[in-house]
Amino acid sequence: MHIARPGQLCLRPRHPVQLRLFHTLLYIPLQIHGGSSTHPPMLCWLHRSNRLISTNTRLLYRRYSSVEQVLEKPFYVTTPIFYPNAVPHIGHLYTIVTADIIARHARLTRPDRPVYFMTGTDEHGLKIQKAAKEKGLEPSVFCDQLSEHFRALAEKADTSHTRFLRTTEQAHHEAVQDVWRKLDAKGLIYKGSHQGWYSISDECFYTDSQIKRVDTPVGPSVVSIETGSTVEWMEEENYKFRLSAFRDALLERYQTDARVIFPPHQHSVVLDMLSSPLEDLSISRPRSRLHWGIPVPNDPDHTMYVWFDALTVYLTATGYPWGKNSAKDVMSAWPPNLQIIGKDIVRFHAIYFPAMLLALDFPLPQRLLAHSHWTVNRLKMSKSIGNVADPIQAIDIYGVDLVRYYLARVGGHFKNDVDWSIEQLEKFTFELQSLLGNFYLRINSAAIRKRLPQGAPASSSSILESCRDLPELRDIVSDLVRLSLDVDAHLSELRVADALDEIIKQLQAANQMLTVTEPWSKNTPSEKVEQICALSLELLRICGILLQPFTPSKATQLLDALGVPADKRGWTQAGFCGGPIGSVQPSVKLFQPRPPVPE
Ligand code: MSP
Repeated sequence: MHIARPGQLCLRPRHPVQLRLFHTLLYIPLQIHGGSSTHPPMLCWLHRSNRLISTNTRLLYRRYSSVEQVLEKPFYVTTPIFYPNAVPHIGHLYTIVTADIIARHARLTRPDRPVYFMTGTDEHGLKIQKAAKEKGLEPSVFCDQLSEHFRALAEKADTSHTRFLRTTEQAHHEAVQDVWRKLDAKGLIYKGSHQGWYSISDECFYTDSQIKRVDTPVGPSVVSIETGSTVEWMEEENYKFRLSAFRDALLERYQTDARVIFPPHQHSVVLDMLSSPLEDLSISRPRSRLHWGIPVPNDPDHTMYVWFDALTVYLTATGYPWGKNSAKDVMSAWPPNLQIIGKDIVRFHAIYFPAMLLALDFPLPQRLLAHSHWTVNRLKMSKSIGNVADPIQAIDIYGVDLVRYYLARVGGHFKNDVDWSIEQLEKFTFELQSLLGNFYLRINSAAIRKRLPQGAPASSSSILESCRDLPELRDIVSDLVRLSLDVDAHLSELRVADALDEIIKQLQAANQMLTVTEPWSKNTPSEKVEQICALSLELLRICGILLQPFTPSKATQLLDALGVPADKRGWTQAGFCGGPIGSVQPSVKLFQPRPPVPE
């Protein structure tokens, strides 16, 4: 029996005795070690009928035709689903780009494992009902129009999502009703009366201690302390979910594993939320108030609460209710390896949704990344202030990769809110253009080429290895040896900005090295010029591979220009001397002059 590298299960009964054993045993326990966020430890049993059952995903139950096949749960990453009550802004782009970086990294590091990446739109609820009414449109027509903007943004942003899910889809409707019925059957839903302060904008109830009275230019108002959105008093009969019963289980989960929520201060926020008893959650609204939503099974007078509906989307995307399409649904993707959300919706994802899953007896998502927000002029983006940053316009002007680069470089720490500004975007645009684009042109310049013995750079392991002997090149070699490991470690721990920073530091060092060693100068021996060129191209090859999650199309252009074959661009090839360079095109401009910025 062969135990594969971390996180991977590869069964190869090569020897006849092993083969016999394999057929005789009912279940073969296989320990797979793991240890990062993206590769959690997993214990699997292989049934003699070739069905694989894993303990961390009790529902993982797939039939494999060949024991030679590599078996592991797909990597599943989710974004929140966006309210299509207005066109998307830069914060929405940021959420989906962050998820895309993680998804692409997962594919590059483990090409044998499928990656599911879900995003979409959250189309029911009072907020949408109201916005549609204001536009004089039927909610369904309104959603069809607005949802397209989010789909178009995801495509324009070059994200590699595998499912764009709308909550108005029939499949989702069935999934939500199934969840409701299951919880009801377990006695976890009851009818009660509810009173509290409801915010249509936040789509949630607040208690007395969560609101404050304020004076506004149009008179006194009541707002949520947390979000500042207006609330109104509501008293109504609705269905409730026994959320209170799950506090201890949630507390235990978060107390025993702090890594489940990142960054760490969000973990503390959740522990704080759980420090006092939880109230049961209202999960329906009278149909008379909210008609735009999924009806409660067997009670046409009630519509499901939009968050109950929306959170279930993560299940829907895996083909839930599982098993309905016999073989080909994607149930084995459950649970999500990572859920990416903004800090404003932590309560829903760290408390309400896990409680629903515990109630259903389903495995919990493995990790939650709760990022901070983008502001503009240090203020929350808002139509009334007129400071909403348009992601489509930014991409049209600067190009998708430079916008993605800026979002990851500045926003990839996730801890504090960050401010969107054209000056900063320009600054970081310039950084990548000069560190990467100019470096490429410099190293391929005629002035350097003519100093090479064959007039073109030659790259071989022996030349590269010999760079270790030159004091000016030695450090770059040792950094390059570690680079892919360091970037991987950062990304596996969700330190997106730190991962990118490692690559940038490497490019800075390379530019500096070129300035110091002057390969264009007659005083530099041609043998040394050859070493400098070989090392520079190797550095570009490695950085090109590692930049793929962040700036996918620039990275592709770079790797194309270096002649790196398409099947040699994975993380395993990103080691020093880890992959080939082909015929290099010397005059490729990675960055073109951009159109003028409109006033
Ligand atoms: N529909 C709910 C999510 C349901 S998930 C089952 C929702 N939608 S939203 O459109 O308001 O927000 C979607 C995501 O965008 C959230 O993660 C939110 O935090 C994020 N952002 C909204 N404004 C943002 C910024 N200004 N900056 C960064 N992210 C922002 O909540």
